Amino acid sequence: MKNRNPSIRKAVATCLALAYLLPIPASIAQSPAVQSSSAPQDVAVVKYDNSFEIFKPVWGLKGMVATEQHLATQAGAEILRQGGNAVDAAVAVGFALAVVLPNAGNLGGGGFMLIHDSAKSESIALDFREVAPASATRDMYLDDKGNVIAGKSTRTPYSVGVPGTVAGLTQALSEHGTMPLAKVMAPAIKLATEGFRVSPVLAEQFNNQRTHLERWPATKAIFFKHKSPASTCRLEECPAAEIEPYKSGDLLIQKDLAHSLNLIAQHGAKGFYEGEIAKNIVRSLTDSVSTMTLADLSNYKTVKRKPVEGTYRGIKILSMPAPSSGGIHLIQMLNLLERYPLQDYGFGSAKSIHLMAESARLAYADRAEHLGDPEFFKVPGKGLVSKKYADSISPLINIEKSTPSKNIKAGQPQNYESDQTTHFSVMDDRGNVVSTTYTLNLNFGSGIVAGGTGILLNNEMDDFSIKPGVANAFGLVGGDANAVAPGKRPLSSMTPVILMRDGQPWIATGSPGGARIITTVLQNIVNVIDFKMNIAEAASMPRMHHQWLPDFLRVERGISPDTIEKLKAMGHDVKVMPTMGRVQTVQYENKQFYGASDPRNPDGSAIGIEQKK
Ligand code: GLY
Repeated sequence: MKNRNPSIRKAVATCLALAYLLPIPASIAQSPAVQSSSAPQDVAVVKYDNSFEIFKPVWGLKGMVATEQHLATQAGAEILRQGGNAVDAAVAVGFALAVVLPNAGNLGGGGFMLIHDSAKSESIALDFREVAPASATRDMYLDDKGNVIAGKSTRTPYSVGVPGTVAGLTQALSEHGTMPLAKVMAPAIKLATEGFRVSPVLAEQFNNQRTHLERWPATKAIFFKHKSPASTCRLEECPAAEIEPYKSGDLLIQKDLAHSLNLIAQHGAKGFYEGEIAKNIVRSLTDSVSTMTLADLSNYKTVKRKPVEGTYRGIKILSMPAPSSGGIHLIQMLNLLERYPLQDYGFGSAKSIHLMAESARLAYADRAEHLGDPEFFKVPGKGLVSKKYADSISPLINIEKSTPSKNIKAGQPQNYESDQTTHFSVMDDRGNVVSTTYTLNLNFGSGIVAGGTGILLNNEMDDFSIKPGVANAFGLVGGDANAVAPGKRPLSSMTPVILMRDGQPWIATGSPGGARIITTVLQNIVNVIDFKMNIAEAASMPRMHHQWLPDFLRVERGISPDTIEKLKAMGHDVKVMPTMGRVQTVQYENKQFYGASDPRNPDGSAIGIEQKK
């Protein structure tokens, strides 16, 4: 196990890019620490012993919805009850989250929707990721000396990519849904018009992001209120001392957002990409230089992609291909883990955590080198997800010891983190499944509301590698593959997943969490398949994360001190840090539906449909 230096790693990667397939050296195939990926796969049928279960999923007969905000879950469930299919319900959820989860749900962002359309017998990956405006340039975030201008890619009009959400949701509905747009948008419009009660979780977000939000007049006017009834200043213009963000229990009404939703309900995607909303977006982003134009908006296009595919112990994995790195690296890690008897090692054991961390270290190193928008860069996706590639890089994992990331490649320290993206999963009783992750990027995105629209705009431009070798907001280091270019989509970690068993949809899941999305989804799958947990248990267990650089192993509270000591003895720099990810999972098993919303966000819920109207 000596091939851990940068040149060998680089050589492996280069061979991969050229041919994807490397022969397995005989010495490796015989190594006792490395099992062949052709080891017997016998867990395709998962049997649960529920007498051991502490957490239980919710149950339904006619369908299931799981989201991070219970009002959005209700919106989706209501559409299913009214006879809508999973796509109708998912689109209802997508619009509702833009109202009730303003820090991540959105109209002004973008994302990815994986759809299994049972009538058409097809699975598609709908890419509605933001794109860089035509004015974007490779060095737009650097000063004259080539140094990164702090905050330009996250907190200014230059941080905003051309939004894709409205194009994505409306296209999904017209191609795979059954209901009119106005009908599935009705719950969102009602929530924006009549308001909803701010939860303690959302109030905390408003408060934490106060300085960020109060910089922008139109944003201030929506999420802040007067501190005293005696104050008469217009909210847009009030001094900071006279206002405060909405608090827990307050009724948040979003009139401008309701108006925008009505325009979209009436005119479809055109209502967003042309006309009043588009003009207001462009006006709000026009600083001394124009960052986004009406042409950028009217030229926005979704892309229908083929999901990336893999298998794990006999279960088929469908996920998002590039420009998300999520699906590719999820499958890459599963291919590496498949050769180890994780079930025997057990959940939470130092061995299992170590192997997941080492697999993640290798995958995230590849992410920095090989992933970008496939329209601009040849992404060796097939190679990265091949079992042969896993065979070729598995010797880089030492089962006893952690491998320092500096021996693989140098990088930059992590400087800022956010968990703000959101996922929702839906299944109906016709065999349709939707697994969607979408985002504004950081919490409340750029923080800029386009005046008169109520629409928060993303700061997805920071997902580009703004300077090769310099870490982004998630501490992720990128290279040329993900450099900024006009019309290009920034690399993502979003990992919506559908698992198929015996050719039928079995589980749909995904998570927010920035760089930690991929490892969160990985553990959710391993918990179900290897550790035989139901989906509620799988969601509730403490998680780990490693992303190659910065080189430390992050764990949630709940991993035992003995295990942490063992991991340290293996060479890991272990840090217990705040929780990671919030998975939203639906499952079809024994002709019934199950759902689980991650307990890390008490605002979330899963609702099972017992009966239709
Ligand atoms: N903005 C986070 C991601 O796309 O991964």
